[in-house]
Amino acid sequence: MTGRTGRLAACSALAASVALAGAVTVTEPRPEAVIIVAGETNGKLTPCGCSEPMMGGMPRRATAIGRLRSGRQAVLVDQGDLTPAAGRQDEIKAEAAVEMIGAMGARIWNLGERDLLLGPAYLSSLKARFPGKVLAGNLQTADGGAVGGLTATVVLAGGKSAVRVGFVGVLDEALGASSAASAGFKLTPAADAASRGRAALTGYAYRVLLYHGPAERGATVARSAGGFDLVVTAHSTEAVGHNDGIRTLCAGSDGKAIAWAGLKAGAPGGVVRLGPTIPEDAVQRRIHAAYVRRVRDEGLADQLPRMPLPPGSGYVGSAACSTCHAAAHRAWSSSRHADALSALRKTGQETDPECLPCHVVGLYSVGGYAPGEKSELARVGCENCHGPGKAHAADAKMPMRPGAMASCAACHVPEHSPRFNREAYWSRIRH
Ligand code: HEC
Ligand code: HEC
Ligand code: HEC
Ligand code: HEC
Ligand SMILES: [Zn+2]
Repeated sequence: MTGRTGRLAACSALAASVALAGAVTVTEPRPEAVIIVAGETNGKLTPCGCSEPMMGGMPRRATAIGRLRSGRQAVLVDQGDLTPAAGRQDEIKAEAAVEMIGAMGARIWNLGERDLLLGPAYLSSLKARFPGKVLAGNLQTADGGAVGGLTATVVLAGGKSAVRVGFVGVLDEALGASSAASAGFKLTPAADAASRGRAALTGYAYRVLLYHGPAERGATVARSAGGFDLVVTAHSTEAVGHNDGIRTLCAGSDGKAIAWAGLKAGAPGGVVRLGPTIPEDAVQRRIHAAYVRRVRDEGLADQLPRMPLPPGSGYVGSAACSTCHAAAHRAWSSSRHADALSALRKTGQETDPECLPCHVVGLYSVGGYAPGEKSELARVGCENCHGPGKAHAADAKMPMRPGAMASCAACHVPEHSPRFNREAYWSRIRH
């Protein structure tokens, strides 16, 4: 029954297409040449998992890219800004990110301003680990050496004939100026480099400008350089669009989406948002697990700077409050705050400095939670909201810090608690 209905539907669809086209032409499915863009990961290798649904992450990205590739001649480029480059953890993370984009088959990594902050030495070690080509056409080291290439060629095989695609990669100078200066690089005008690169690309089926910068400026630079089939941009919203007649493509920020487009003029394109329905790729998960182990093995949480508390002040833990505030203690004990460190154990991130501050008591204070210790401070406790309670617990006449209600904002930030609402949340932990 359903089979017959299906066939009938197929027949009427065929009839419609005949009526529209006037004749039935049977065309072989031909692989189309597409470009897939990812990037601006900004250190978000996986979603933190604080709340559902969360977007993005390398494991979903790899699956989505695999699906887009199938049946197509596709080239994957990464628009850079792998991490915020804010310290040792981001170096470890950048190594993992380079391995991840390499494993996904990225052919080009176009440097973003945040990548520059990793510094010349670290960047060159990362470059050696990346199986594709690093582009940074308008960037030089202090002594005038190249940091990345100006152009790259990707030959797409697999169709009836190979397709040569030429790329030029540059960084917007307004965006990159301060990073370049602080990391000891020289940044020259993107438009000049783009013109030189464009002139070098003769005999290509398609020419693509990788512009690490906003779409409008990318389109302007592309036009002044002599025209490109497509401009890949950054620091813009995820979109396949047009900017003054020039096709632009952007994957948006924080690696929450990827974007793709056919290289032929007028070819379709789209954005894939990396939501929880996209399965996670096992190889990417393995690389992430290795990254988590390195963060633990290097003992990064033990090396955090800690501020001394005022004299006489200190953390005592929530159990010390129970004798006098039995009802409050009971209410708190049954809240999720009382077991907030367990959430990090699920992914082995219970010593990760990027996770701990909101899941324990006093991470940045002398006498606060020490990573690995089994103590009253290994959770979100009374003192996260009321302040250090040592003096008050010893002598109830000593005041507690006022303003507990304002404390929520430190942890229930939109990125980790998007549905936070003060009244609704307080009603669940009222005491
Ligand atoms: C800025 C504070 C903050 C940081 C940093 C943070 N979290 Fe969270 N996390 C929260 C808050 C707040 C919640 C509760 C969110 C809600 O229910 O609205 C939460 C909830 C969670 C949960 C859900 C627990 C459950 O039982 O459902 C997990 C898992 C988690 N976080 C893991 C992590 C990991 C892993 C990291 C580091 C990559 C991290 N968190 C970093 C604040 C943070
Ligand atoms: C020895 C008993 C005792 C212990 C232990 C104790 N408190 Fe208190 N706490 C009191 C008394 C008594 C008051 C005053 C109650 C009042 O004024 O209504 C008080 C008041 C408070 C207040 C209200 C302050 C205000 O100005 O409204 C907070 C908050 C508080 N305690 C938190 C804690 C926390 C957190 C701990 C554990 C670190 C703790 N207390 C330990 C006895 C104690
Ligand atoms: C997640 C934050 C948070 C935690 C954890 C927390 N409190 Fe509170 N507490 C509050 C807020 C908010 C108020 C209400 C303040 C207000 O009304 O302005 C409050 C009120 C109180 C008061 C004063 C009640 C009154 O009638 O004025 C006491 C006492 C108190 N808490 C004790 C505790 C103790 C003891 C613990 C741990 C067992 C604890 N709290 C854990 C946020 C918290
Ligand atoms: C030090 C960080 C921190 C502070 C401050 C904090 N929270 Fe939380 N909160 C968390 C974390 C982490 C979780 C998730 C714990 C878990 O599930 O393992 C959480 C979970 C919750 C939950 C449970 C959510 C659910 O889905 O059941 C409520 C409700 C909540 N917080 C309310 C509050 C309120 C209200 C305040 C302020 C008065 C506050 N929190 C202050 C870190 C914090
Ligand atoms: Zn950038």
